[in-house]
Amino acid sequence: MNAKTTLTYEAILATQQRTPAWRVEDLIGGERRLDFTKPFMPEGLAGVEGLKFLSRDERRTLNQIRGHEYLSIFGLVEEFILPFVLDHARPRLRDDDHRVRALLQFAGEEAKHIQLFKRFRDAFVADFGTPTPVIGPPEAVATEVLKHHPLAVALLILQIEWMTQKHYLEGVKDNGDLDPLFRSLLKHHWMEEANHAKLDMLMVQALGESCSLEERMAAFEQYLGLGMFIDQALVTQLDMNLDAFMRATGRKLSVPELSEVREAQRRAMRWTYIGSGITHPRFLESVEGLDPQLRRKAEEVGPAFC
Ligand SMILES: [Fe+2]
Ligand SMILES: [Fe+2]
Repeated sequence: MNAKTTLTYEAILATQQRTPAWRVEDLIGGERRLDFTKPFMPEGLAGVEGLKFLSRDERRTLNQIRGHEYLSIFGLVEEFILPFVLDHARPRLRDDDHRVRALLQFAGEEAKHIQLFKRFRDAFVADFGTPTPVIGPPEAVATEVLKHHPLAVALLILQIEWMTQKHYLEGVKDNGDLDPLFRSLLKHHWMEEANHAKLDMLMVQALGESCSLEERMAAFEQYLGLGMFIDQALVTQLDMNLDAFMRATGRKLSVPELSEVREAQRRAMRWTYIGSGITHPRFLESVEGLDPQLRRKAEEVGPAFC
């Protein structure tokens, strides 16, 4: 194993306790409604503004469908993160009080995020007016993912957590154009995920230390396989999105237009869920800690998803 991170459970727990607490009910419900006159997703993730043959309203509708997809896919990944974190905590409940408390808070927050994403999806469905199907079901995806080596799953989770940091900081934080409720969801999620990302770094390090180099390399291959599994699922989701878009807007796309939309959206979705994570410098730092040749491999694979 390469250089260790200087992070400690004690320091992360202290940061978790300083992070302002929030409830799902503070963000959604009651009088609060999504504002469908505004985009939900930053353009860097939505990838709709280059599609000039679509009207402004049509581009915004596609952006909002991507927002619904984002809620659904995050809801889905949190469903395997939650049991994974609990399983990681359980065997060592007596070792380190800071570790146990930090990991249980992590799990509790992910359970809250699952509920948060569901509540936002319900709000979307209530007002959007057109069915917007999503891949799943989450339990089946969780079962499939959790069959893999724990280090492979931990790497996938680490990449997801760093991805959410990038999404907020680069596209949402200073973006006053977005629907305020959606922006608030992304902000509150980001606040807690910042701590999760650090805990994931410790999980990856601990799992790496418990494996031989051969096992770490095999686990990394499994992580790449999980990336391909997600990439395939995104193709299915893209078809669902375009179907919902055409039904919601009544727009009939010509064959060349459809192919242009597909290509732009394929690129945007790959960047959103894979590229923005696998190329994140902090993710690569952890991979390098497992072995420098694995970092080189991640750097070779990453650009295909950017
Ligand atoms: Fe989360
Ligand atoms: Fe998280």
